[in-house]
Amino acid sequence: MLKNRSIISISDLSDEDMNEVFSQADRMLENVNAGKKMNIMSSKILATLFYEPSTRTRLSFESSMQRLGGSVISMADSKTSSTIKGETLADTIRIVESYSDIIVIRHPLEGAALLASRFSSKPVINAGDGSGEHPTQTLIDLYTVRKELGSIDGKTVTIIGDLKYGRTVHSLLSGLSRFDVEVNLVSPENLAIPKHVYNDVLGKLDIHVSTSLDEFLGETDILYVTRIQKERFTDKNEYAKLIGSYKITSKEVQKLKPGSIIMHPLPRVDEISPEVDNTKAAKYFKQAYYGVPIRMALISMIAGD
Ligand code: NCD
Repeated sequence: MLKNRSIISISDLSDEDMNEVFSQADRMLENVNAGKKMNIMSSKILATLFYEPSTRTRLSFESSMQRLGGSVISMADSKTSSTIKGETLADTIRIVESYSDIIVIRHPLEGAALLASRFSSKPVINAGDGSGEHPTQTLIDLYTVRKELGSIDGKTVTIIGDLKYGRTVHSLLSGLSRFDVEVNLVSPENLAIPKHVYNDVLGKLDIHVSTSLDEFLGETDILYVTRIQKERFTDKNEYAKLIGSYKITSKEVQKLKPGSIIMHPLPRVDEISPEVDNTKAAKYFKQAYYGVPIRMALISMIAGD
């Protein structure tokens, strides 16, 4: 049961919780597809606190709450809020919890969502904490695989891009470690997966690491592409050297195993060429669409009556 629980890490959810989210999301998806608004959260308020840029995550949380019949309050821009006056996160949370029933937070510092949850008597959802985690994105990712390929077990997942700073990758690896999957990790050496993330899943996953994608394309069921996280670089020259180090074009798509899919948490910069968008393999926009039913399921399970 997720009632009143904060979701800071994907490991906060048991296998049972995850299955429950997926089956509730199926129910929500029917409503979303039919364009129906529900009325099950009409007495509840969701607060979004975003200290970092976001399009999909904030809007899909807000859209989800509204589709459930609930209301939303939002600190859209930390530059126009009291943060700029020096208010601490702890104080902000103490106030926001008294204005709302559930809080969604995104923050540039790893650990910020956990800290927020310690100061809040209301449930907190981590919508990204620096290079830490992004658990709701992982629920969307796993749900997308189930919907598009039928199951997760038995698949080979190739993750390419910024494995060092990419929080979606950190949560995804942890999520995948509950399934029987093979994982290939592809990145420039400087953007390799952090040791602690790797060690956490070692032994649970069959992992291969490489700097080159080509050797894995023919065996890949899911190609998960990520953006180089420009905002995390202290040295912008370092970023300039790495940008463009890999790119998915129709040439790579042709080498993929037949029936495989391409995913990306978005936003993309130039790591997937637009010509790929019209191929059957491209599922990243569908993946973003699943953000609403998944977040509807989660919000209603955590803050519903
Ligand atoms: C991701 C994030 O914020 O970590 N975006 C998202 O929520 N879909 C990925 C990214 O910014 O590259």
